[in-house]
Amino acid sequence: MTDNTALWILSKRSPFAIGPAPMPEAQAHEVVIRTRSIAVNPFDRLIQTAGDIMTPFLTYPAIVGTDVAGEVIAVGADVTRFKIGDRVLGFAAGTDKTRNRASEGAFQAYVVLLDHMTSPMPEALSFEDAAVLPLGLSTAASALFQRDYLALNAPSLEAAPTGKTLLVWGGSTSVGMNAIQLAVAAGYDVVATASPRNFDLLKRLGATEIFDYRSLSIVADMIAALRGRQMAGAIAIGAGSARPCIDILGQCEGNRFVAMATPPVSFDEVPAGRGHWRKLVPTIAGMMVGTTSLALRARRNKVTTKMIWGSTLIANEVGPMIFDAFLPAALAEGRYVTAPKAEVVGHGLDAIPAALEQQRRGVSATKLVVTL
Ligand SMILES: NC(=O)c1ccc[n+]([C@@H]2O[C@H](COP(=O)([O-])OP(=O)(O)OC[C@H]3O[C@@H](n4cnc5c(N)ncnc54)[C@H](OP(=O)(O)O)[C@@H]3O)[C@@H](O)[C@H]2O)c1
Repeated sequence: MTDNTALWILSKRSPFAIGPAPMPEAQAHEVVIRTRSIAVNPFDRLIQTAGDIMTPFLTYPAIVGTDVAGEVIAVGADVTRFKIGDRVLGFAAGTDKTRNRASEGAFQAYVVLLDHMTSPMPEALSFEDAAVLPLGLSTAASALFQRDYLALNAPSLEAAPTGKTLLVWGGSTSVGMNAIQLAVAAGYDVVATASPRNFDLLKRLGATEIFDYRSLSIVADMIAALRGRQMAGAIAIGAGSARPCIDILGQCEGNRFVAMATPPVSFDEVPAGRGHWRKLVPTIAGMMVGTTSLALRARRNKVTTKMIWGSTLIANEVGPMIFDAFLPAALAEGRYVTAPKAEVVGHGLDAIPAALEQQRRGVSATKLVVTL
């Protein structure tokens, strides 16, 4: 009998703890994988500090984590796309409201993945590189392709140019690099923002013009650059990204819709333990003020805004559109690359808390990865 081990959160706001976990079994539309690489995301650490408002539904003990790559060791009765031994990457959905299952959290040696949120990996792709994709890709796809968001054409290997332009604010984030590649693969021109050190990288991913988001004249510069273009909308990623996107789209032709990945206030300074409520309460108040202020600004500019939840594609046609119809062939043909670049920062589940802390201190065009 094989043993499973997990990095648990035993109760609400408690620290991570390594311990034994049940060996998962694959239900009809699931696979079980032996985890080889895990990438960490801001969301993974925010569950301990802002879970009261972000994931109040989550049952404990919980196993979190979304980005995983490994080998299939079991397939459910209705799975036809995978067999035992396949190398795959997948979106571990345990913290999604519709799943809420510890067996589907990425931070463990054996993880349950939904068949339609899993993709085969090309031979040449390493587990480390593959693990950078799932949440960044899913969040970008939820914003770009869901019908109640930007509703862009589906990505494909033969997309016809649409003549429309997408604004990606925060193009060098994990979400942003996937948004750029997906939009280009769907036939859209992409204008993005990043620090100048990442301009060339974003051009290689397909963005045509890139602006420094720290420039004081960026809103005026982007409005001038976008004059005469038909907009497909915007995806706003990173602190303070929604406001300039509203101001820019308010002066543009086309779809005035901003899909927002980042809330108007940061929860990074809220501790899980001592002082939790003292920091959380003013942060929630700031969130309400920030949200109201953005809503008023959007209304003045005749722009629609909507927050993204990066796992909603699980429950609609966008999940299979990405992980089945598009990504496997696009990766195999080199038409989609794993981005941002992976930086392996440790081995073993006990390396994850330090990786999350390093992520909190900030990265540039890099995804932190732990191997198992
Ligand atoms: N709503 C959801 O479901 C969801 C899901 C995933 C992520 N998110 C959110 O999306 C954001 C990005 O997450 P991620 O994991 O993709 O980030 P990440 O890869 O860790 O982002 C790192 C990048 O952020 C850029 N950056 C820093 N400050 C910025 C700012 N003020 N505006 C624009 N870009 C900035 C930096 O760009 P330069 O180095 O070029 O300066 C850096 O390359 C976070 O706020 C995260 O919480 C939301």
